[in-house]
Amino acid sequence: MHIFIDTADVAELDSLAETGLVDGVTTNPSLIAKAGKAILPTLKEICALVPGPVSGEVVAVNSADMLKEAEVLSALAPNIVIKLPLTMEGLKACKALSERGVKTNVTLCFSAVQALMAAKAGATFISPFIGRLDDNGQDGMGLIREIREIYDNYGFETQILAASIRTTGHVRDAALAGADCATIPPAIFKALYKHVLTDLGLEAFLKDWAATGQSIT
Ligand code: E4P
Repeated sequence: MHIFIDTADVAELDSLAETGLVDGVTTNPSLIAKAGKAILPTLKEICALVPGPVSGEVVAVNSADMLKEAEVLSALAPNIVIKLPLTMEGLKACKALSERGVKTNVTLCFSAVQALMAAKAGATFISPFIGRLDDNGQDGMGLIREIREIYDNYGFETQILAASIRTTGHVRDAALAGADCATIPPAIFKALYKHVLTDLGLEAFLKDWAATGQSIT
């Protein structure tokens, strides 16, 4: 499973990218606003930090303007992916971009039939929002399973990018459900390698080792 970080915070991303475990990044207009910096230089910096796909989202609402914004975003770096909303206009832009070989991420997906339409439009990634569905009393992970089945039924190559992740359990369940990637907030990424028994076990090993007086190097 590919792990993307859901952030526009360049400093935080820099420290996470040092692990070598960050495969890509997703941003959205709210994350750009939260970071408080200009969108274009921010995306350019992010693209230099990770080798993989970096989603930059359009803010136009009609396909012609989305395509104009896509042109500006695409010029930033070769690893930019154009993020488009799952609307009729967004899918029109997605179809046009995929025909030109431009990578796309169709976002704000809340139903399996929306995901079907995005795949038909040639989306590179589809982003089902698990957490927001759960917040709304619906089954976010169930949506991932439905999309997996539909895509496998028809051999769609669109990658399922589990989004709106709230917990490490979401990451586990998305992996079990066959999501191709998950985009994760920095705090959840840091929690993924943590376990209390790992900490306690290491503490005991180091205590016993210190008592031997030995050294390896
Ligand atoms: C995905 O691409 C979105 O940026 C993100 O996962 C939204 O998550 P949220 O519901 O926590 O805002």
